[in-house]
Order: sequence, then structure tokens, then C-alpha cells
Amino acid sequence: MSTEDKANEVSTEIQGKDPAAHPTDPEAQEKDGGAGGTITLFFIFGLVASLVLGWVIFPQLLYSKKKQPIDFNHVLHNELVEESCESCHFFREDGTYHGVPKLAQCIDCHEEVNGDDPEEEKFVTQYVAKGREVPWLVYARQPDCVFFSHIAHVKMGQMECVTCHGYIGESESLKDYEANRITGYSRDIWGKNIAGIKWNSWDRMKMDDCAACHKKNNVNLGSVQTGRGGCFVCHH
Ligand code: HEC
Ligand code: HEC
Ligand code: HEC
Ligand code: HEC
Ligand code: HEC
Repeated sequence: MSTEDKANEVSTEIQGKDPAAHPTDPEAQEKDGGAGGTITLFFIFGLVASLVLGWVIFPQLLYSKKKQPIDFNHVLHNELVEESCESCHFFREDGTYHGVPKLAQCIDCHEEVNGDDPEEEKFVTQYVAKGREVPWLVYARQPDCVFFSHIAHVKMGQMECVTCHGYIGESESLKDYEANRITGYSRDIWGKNIAGIKWNSWDRMKMDDCAACHKKNNVNLGSVQTGRGGCFVCHH
């Protein structure tokens, strides 16, 4: 093959690939359109496949789900109790938080089965009758090294439960507890959204989320020099 032939071959190849160079050549255009279409189709297919994998399948693999020991209807109970949320979630005299209710908050009404709800029957027969506390799973549970104080936020900071917990207190049913298989964290802490996007203030409660709100509100950021504040606001 002569050098000229080779050069010709290369140039036809270029022509075929670059319709812009020969906008009037219909054959070249059609050929290119076909290949481009297939590539686009593959691209879309690949994109959809990875989105399904990333948004649907991966989160299911990443989080293990556990049912609460019994279901609990907040809406129903909020109407029955006298002091709203504080009937079950209240501050003790020393300012510490009685977060998860004990049987003592339920017993007045549930010594016997009131209705025909199977969850109530389970609660009365398996827990109340045996004097066994319900092993509730706490969605907001932080690791032991973290110090959190409800009184600082709810009383001093005047913050609403919803800001950090979302609408659990207004729900008719307890959602599954989801634990991250790699880190062990609850999904409410680690982040509801796989992409890390935070739509609501309660979507995630990692260290950076606590710190971001503290920074915004100028909470005791402390100083490295004095050793007070700083890390020790939240780690004791
Ligand atoms: C009759 C008792 C009762 C009342 C009244 C009540 N709760 Fe609850 N609450 C519970 C029980 C039981 C749970 C389940 C415990 C758990 O989630 O670990 C719970 C769980 C929660 C949780 C989830 C905590 C976590 O991270 O797991 C939040 C938030 C909450 N309640 C907020 C509220 C708010 C807000 C109100 C008032 C509008 C309210 N509750 C009224 C009994 C009650
Ligand atoms: C003021 C009275 C009162 C208190 C306090 C109370 N309950 Fe109830 N609870 C009721 C009544 C009334 C029903 C409706 C009975 C039915 O239809 O089965 C009910 C229903 C239930 C049911 C079945 C419906 C559901 O929520 O899934 C469960 C489970 C239950 N209660 C658990 C608890 C627990 C746990 C506590 C304590 C943290 C508690 N209750 C405190 C009155 C009360
Ligand atoms: C500034 C954020 C914030 C606010 C506001 C807040 N909580 Fe919490 N809550 C948390 C965190 C963080 C935990 C986990 C604490 C831990 O694991 O040490 C928690 C834990 C709980 C628990 C589980 C029990 C416990 O003590 O560990 C309950 C129940 C609860 N909160 C209810 C409420 C209710 C009801 C309100 C409103 C009156 C409220 N919280 C307001 C952040 C908040
Ligand atoms: C949405 C805002 C917000 C979020 C989220 C938040 N905090 Fe706070 N926090 C505050 C404010 C405001 C105060 C100061 C309240 C006051 O004293 O008036 C505070 C105070 C505190 C204090 C007491 C500080 C002191 O010097 O006495 C501790 C401890 C604390 N936060 C820990 C945490 C931890 C841990 C988290 C995350 C799990 C968290 N906070 C998330 C707003 C927030
Ligand atoms: C505003 C509260 C806050 C402050 C201030 C804070 N932390 Fe944290 N830290 C947390 C929370 C909440 C967690 C648990 C959630 C997480 O891992 O993001 C955590 C987790 C950690 C962990 C991981 C522990 C584990 O068991 O996985 C380390 C390490 C840590 N913090 C170090 C520090 C150091 C060092 C500083 C000071 C420069 C600091 N933190 C300041 C709230 C805080």
C-alpha cells in the first residue's frame, strides 16, 4: 500500500466520523446518527441501571431492618393522655431526660386489654403482665462517646422535637429501625439520603450536623487554648 493510499484511507475514516467536515454528505450523516443513537441508548440504559443500583438496591443492602418489639400509635395516644408528649417523654427533677417511656407510663391504662388491637394484646400479655420493659429501639441513638443533653436544646434552646427527630411524635405507626451494616449507626444518624443530600434538618445527625447548628447559633465553641468547650462540649 502506497503512502498516498494510506493517507486516503485515513481521510475517508475521518470523513465518516466527522459529519461536520462534510455536512452535505447524507450517507456519512446517517451512519453517524445511527452509531450515536446506539451510544445514547447504552448511556441511558447504563445510567438508569446505576441509578437503580445506587438508589434502590444499594441502600437495601447497606441497611438491615429491625421491627420494633411492638408497634405504637402516637396519634391515638396523644389524644388520650393529659400532658401531651410530656406524659411519656419528660424531664426528671434533676434535669435529665426520661426519653423512652417505661411501663410505669402505660400501666394505668393497660393493666388489661382495652380493645381488640393485636399490638395492644401483645403489649399487655408479653410485657405488662410479666413486668418486662419493652426493649424499644431508639432511632436517634448516638454512640456512647457522645454527650447529648435534651434540656439544653428543648428548654434553654427552645427547640422543637421535630427539628431533630422529624414527625415520629405525630405518626400512627413506628417505622422499622434501620442499622448501617458497615458503621452500625442508626439510619436516622447516618443519613436517610444515600447521596448525602439533606432536605430536612432531621435527615441526618452526624458530628458535622450538630456542629453546623452550634456554629450558626454560636454555642460554646470553646477554645483549644483553655481546653474548655471544643470537643468536650459533646465528648466527655
Ligand atoms: C403514651 C406515651 C407517649 C406519648 C404521649 C408520646 N410518645 Fe413519643 N414515644 C412513645 C413510645 C412508646 C416510643 C417508642 C420508643 C422508641 O422509639 O424507641 C416513642 C418514641 C418517640 C420518638 C422517637 C425516639 C427515637 O429516636 O427512637 C419521638 C421523637 C417521640 N416519641 C416524640 C413524641 C412527641 C413529639 C410526642 C407528643 C406530640 C410524643 N412522642 C408523645 C410514647 C409516647
Ligand atoms: C391514657 C391512657 C393510655 C396510656 C397512658 C397508654 N395507652 Fe396505649 N392505648 C390506650 C387506649 C385507650 C388504646 C386503644 C385500645 C384499643 O383499641 O386496642 C391504646 C392502644 C395501645 C396499643 C395498640 C395500638 C397501637 O398503638 O399500636 C398499644 C401497642 C399501646 N396502647 C401501647 C401503649 C404503651 C407502650 C404505653 C406507654 C408508653 C401506652 N400504651 C400508654 C390508652 C393508653
Ligand atoms: C437538638 C436535637 C434534638 C431535639 C430538639 C430533641 N431531641 Fe430527642 N434526641 C436527640 C438525640 C441526639 C438523641 C440521642 C441521644 C443519645 O443517644 O445519647 C435523642 C433521643 C431521644 C429519645 C430516646 C431516648 C433517649 O433519651 O435517649 C427520645 C424519646 C427523644 N429524644 C424524644 C424527644 C422529644 C419528645 C423532643 C421534644 C420535646 C426531643 N427529643 C427533642 C436530639 C434531639
Ligand atoms: C438545630 C440546632 C442544633 C442541633 C442540630 C444540635 N444542637 Fe446542641 N445546642 C444547640 C443550641 C442552640 C444550644 C445552646 C442552648 C442554650 O444553652 O441556649 C446547644 C447546646 C448543646 C450542648 C450544651 C452546651 C453547653 O455548653 O452547655 C450540648 C452538649 C449539645 N448542644 C450537644 C449536641 C449534640 C451532641 C448534637 C448532635 C447530636 C447537637 N447538640 C445538635 C443547637 C443544636
Ligand atoms: C457539636 C457536638 C460535637 C463536637 C463539638 C465534637 N463532636 Fe465528635 N462526634 C459528635 C457526634 C454526634 C458523633 C457521632 C456521630 C458521628 O460519628 O458523626 C461524634 C463522633 C466522633 C468520633 C467518632 C467516634 C466513633 O465512635 O465512631 C470521633 C473520633 C470524634 N467525634 C472526635 C471529635 C473531636 C476530636 C472533636 C473536637 C475537634 C469533636 N469530636 C467535637 C459530636 C461532636
